[in-house]
Amino acid sequence: MDPASAPNKFYVTTPIYYVNDVPHIGHAYTTVAADILARYNRLKGKSVFFLTGTDEHGQKVEKAAQEKGRTPQEHADIMVGNFRSLWEKLNISNDAFIRTTDPEHKSIVQTVLQQLRDKKEIVKRAYSGWYCTPDERFWTEKEVGDGNCPECRRPVEQIQEENYFFLMSKYRERLIRYIEDNPYYILPETRRNEVLGFLKNNELGDLCISRPKSRLSWGVPLPFDEDFVTYVWFDALLNYYSATKYLSPVHGSRFTVHGQDWWPADHHLVGKDILTTHAVYWSAMLMALEWELPKNIFAHGWWTVEGQKMSKSIGNVIDPNEMVEKYGIDAFRYFLFREVTFGLDGDFSEQSLITRINSDLANDLGNLLSRFVTMVEKYLNGEIEMPFEDTTVLNPFARECIYEVLPAIDDTHYQHWSNLRFNIILDNIWNIIRAANNHITQEEPWKLAKDHKEELKRVMFNIWNALRLTAVSLYPIMPDTSEKIWKQLGLKSLLDETKQSLPEAASEDEDVYPEIFGWNWSPGYKIKVSKGEQLFPRIDTKKKNKKEKNVEEKTEQENKPKENLITINDFAKVQLKIGKVLQAERVEGSNKLIKLQVDTGEVRQIVAGIGKSYTPDELNGKNIVVVTNLKPAKLMGVESQGMLLAATDSDGTLSILIPEKEVKQGALIR
Ligand code: ME8
Repeated sequence: MDPASAPNKFYVTTPIYYVNDVPHIGHAYTTVAADILARYNRLKGKSVFFLTGTDEHGQKVEKAAQEKGRTPQEHADIMVGNFRSLWEKLNISNDAFIRTTDPEHKSIVQTVLQQLRDKKEIVKRAYSGWYCTPDERFWTEKEVGDGNCPECRRPVEQIQEENYFFLMSKYRERLIRYIEDNPYYILPETRRNEVLGFLKNNELGDLCISRPKSRLSWGVPLPFDEDFVTYVWFDALLNYYSATKYLSPVHGSRFTVHGQDWWPADHHLVGKDILTTHAVYWSAMLMALEWELPKNIFAHGWWTVEGQKMSKSIGNVIDPNEMVEKYGIDAFRYFLFREVTFGLDGDFSEQSLITRINSDLANDLGNLLSRFVTMVEKYLNGEIEMPFEDTTVLNPFARECIYEVLPAIDDTHYQHWSNLRFNIILDNIWNIIRAANNHITQEEPWKLAKDHKEELKRVMFNIWNALRLTAVSLYPIMPDTSEKIWKQLGLKSLLDETKQSLPEAASEDEDVYPEIFGWNWSPGYKIKVSKGEQLFPRIDTKKKNKKEKNVEEKTEQENKPKENLITINDFAKVQLKIGKVLQAERVEGSNKLIKLQVDTGEVRQIVAGIGKSYTPDELNGKNIVVVTNLKPAKLMGVESQGMLLAATDSDGTLSILIPEKEVKQGALIR
């Protein structure tokens, strides 16, 4: 861990998401990651500030609002609900939710702009450049080479206007030095190298931080020029600072933490798409303001779906709400961080999610707990006795846990937590679970139950302790599951008991672990376990497939055209006769309808919709087939006393039916 980070406070942020769209798995990913870190640090007794929120200004939001016929503020007020409700659903424990339309935020943005203007870090310049409207970004000649935006590939336009610039270029050398001297500043290392490469191999331009109101009105007005609003990124990045001044939790006096400022953040979590804006723009802004830089910016990878980029047009956008409803919160949270190394790109598929649920969650973890509780209830009257002896000396399983498995879980030895190696942490937790499952297989408690009761008690205590340690370590990632395990183990509240086990030093300046993270923590002499619900019922893919197949077969049947058979008597009800066309003419005002006088033994008038395939002349004198017992009807006000038969071709051309030989008019058709 970076030695400079104050150990008794922990401040973590997510990007603030645009309200122009609904949240998807990518947004959920960053937010759950921040939640994991926040929960882990709270467990360790730190004062935590976990911030997320929404980015509500700028062209994208203005445009999305326009399309919906709303004002940008109305649009933001509606869309923000999607984020808030998803975070609740995903058990996100954010301490605050910032909106860039908050008046307090806007006022801080204006103060900072004025400060930079006073320091001559912001200047006004005439400018002409290539501008990508959808991305709201200027690009250099070199960057747009082929005339398209390097980011979204849409055409850029040449824009000429006066604007305000933040003199970012002068921070290039300082940025390079800072990133080189602080290897923890940007993680993972590959991303850090990318940023360094970008800074070393390119000129760093000044940053255009204003937009003329005539082009964009939805933004924070510049305090020193009312004709301009602030560039959306300048406004957005400042949220990380502004929130500490009006939204941070109270630990001590208002908006401070034990007398210190909440700023700087310990981690800014971002996707790799927005690393440059954070590592370069934001860092340079902070340098210009002479404020501290965050301890760490972590850029994670990109989720694709079954090998494809997620996109609305492909229709493969994963809605986290749906995943949670189908598979449960903790299974979804587990999958996101077990499947892929945090920092690398990952591919999402429901099949891999199901596989993880069945193998890791149902088989390894769920089975261990239910087997354990069943055996304790069956052989030991549901009771676990805490041992008096020093378990490290007597007990090889305890030794394995203490010396091998547990050190890999807390941060004292390998620093997996401070380096956000979530999948390794999970793998290490699964080492406890695997060790416990093996312990059962080797010790065969069902045999010990016969005449080695003391031995059995020791083995069951070992498993109980392994499950307890699993629950504590897993809590940041799967909070509900951990609490459920905790209750089945006969314990009360994971959070309360963890807090009570914190050594005094936790409130001082020392980074410590609650005793509950160690093997030797004990709640007392005897404890009663109690069977609870199954943690993760297996998802039977065969059954699911069969079910799906049944549904498919059923729908296929339903979709089959119904044959609607009629009896001969039904058919006999229709009277069909041969009729001779005596006269034909178009119905006035219609290019489709033709009025015919037909002799079917008696002369009747028939109106037929055949005018696009026949002229009246072509019909004169023809023998046709007529339904003669149809109730008369009026078509465009003209009465039709029957109907002629015609076949329709696939392209809509009609062909009237005529008898193969010469037949007398009025002849019946049977
Ligand atoms: O960029 N895989 O907001 P945004 C992984 N408002 N993560 C993904 C992802 C994917 N396919 N898609 C999105 C903005 N994300 C600005 C941020 S911060 C001061 C301003 C996640 O709504 C990832 O965290 O476009 C990415 O950085 C963020 O959503 C972008 O969200």
